[in-house]
Amino acid sequence: MKLWGGRFTKETNKLVHNFNASLSFDQKFYKQDIQGSIAHVTMLAKQGIIEESDKVAIINGLNSILTDIENGHLEFTPEHEDIHSFVEAHLIERIGDPGKKLHTGRSRNDQVALDMKLYVRDEVVELDSLLKTLLLSIMKVMEENTETFMPGFTHLQKAQPVTLAHHFGAYFEMFKRDRSRLTDIYDRMNYCPLGAGALAGTTYPLDREYTASLLNFDGPTLNSMDSVSDRDYVIELMSALSTIMMHLSRFCEEIIIWNSNEYRFVNIDDSYSTGSSIMPQKKNPDIAELIRGKTGRVYGALTSILTTMKGIPLAYNKDMQEDKEFAFDAIDTTKGCIALFTGMIDTMTFNKQVMESSAKNGFTNATDAADYLVNHGVPFRDAHGIVGQLVLFCEGKGISLDDMTLDEFKAISPVFEEDIYDAISLKTCVDKRLTIGAPGKEAMDKVIAINKEYLSK
Ligand code: ARG
Repeated sequence: MKLWGGRFTKETNKLVHNFNASLSFDQKFYKQDIQGSIAHVTMLAKQGIIEESDKVAIINGLNSILTDIENGHLEFTPEHEDIHSFVEAHLIERIGDPGKKLHTGRSRNDQVALDMKLYVRDEVVELDSLLKTLLLSIMKVMEENTETFMPGFTHLQKAQPVTLAHHFGAYFEMFKRDRSRLTDIYDRMNYCPLGAGALAGTTYPLDREYTASLLNFDGPTLNSMDSVSDRDYVIELMSALSTIMMHLSRFCEEIIIWNSNEYRFVNIDDSYSTGSSIMPQKKNPDIAELIRGKTGRVYGALTSILTTMKGIPLAYNKDMQEDKEFAFDAIDTTKGCIALFTGMIDTMTFNKQVMESSAKNGFTNATDAADYLVNHGVPFRDAHGIVGQLVLFCEGKGISLDDMTLDEFKAISPVFEEDIYDAISLKTCVDKRLTIGAPGKEAMDKVIAINKEYLSK
């Protein structure tokens, strides 16, 4: 079963075999391994390094292995060290001698570097499409809620009124940046390591440009030692996934707060909630909590690969086999979290009345009351003090600024007139904020148009 038994006189210790083996996890990229091998032999035949008939036999053999793995007829059995040995052993078993030519001019070092890149590249595309679906869901909420008022917070204290569209719009920008990070990673990693050999290239006249083009790379990598020992793209992806999870986690934290009995801004749908085994009344936001929790696990993958790579001399070292398990887990975890989060906000309902009255009752219009005074000639610092007195007065009576009589306003400052009520109404407070990026409806509509254009591409 070994690809390398020739120079050995003893059987590998069983524990050593198990410790060294990676098939249990690198079987995840069987498809990419076969795809890479097909490109490799296609190039070998074009260069006259193997016969055309051998190429055909090998490709047919590889395709039959692919089919049998996919329909469950071929199982990954633990006597094989890794996916590369597994595929080669089965190929030789199926087609005999031509199969022994597959590995000409190739090492498992450039092979695994290729497989991991192909796998990561496919996942980057899938992650990007999941993020796009999430953005479409966020956009729907934005379009429907440019006039749904709610308090904006700083320090989790009510600050100034915003809209639900504006609040969701903040996350739209975050996930948009996440997508652009994925695009960057794709572009930077998209060079083919195959042909780097073990570390120093090969003496066969390989056409690396051709192999790269067969696999849709932008070209071959330019240093064979770097090719087999570069895992920067895994680190970059783990970093991008960590950022995505951080964004999801913040959003989840807000939804958990909004869904609490105290806030009641949103209702997470029954289908995305869970109950308690003892307290019959409970409906818990477990999905949001789990997404928040799984963030730690993805950060762990980033820390793990960074630590693994930090002391490795050039070129390939077996440490690098440790790039896979945590990375696969982080990719699957993040994909699952994006999909679940999207479903959760698609089904969530918003208690617009509660949001609006919360915005009304927390003095979120105090800044606007001060601005009113400034517009009537009062210096800002004095205006700030006057409105502070208004707030104190209201707190004593348990009312909001809008509930004060004009006489009460005037008792604190004679500058106030009847038009103060309009100046501090929620609608005015929001709609006057018209600089681009602000919550005012006109400004928000412009941003929505820009972002819809972005989503249409
Ligand atoms: N299973 C190995 C990995 O995942 C493949 C490369 C092995 N190469 C070697 N010379 N041991 O990194």
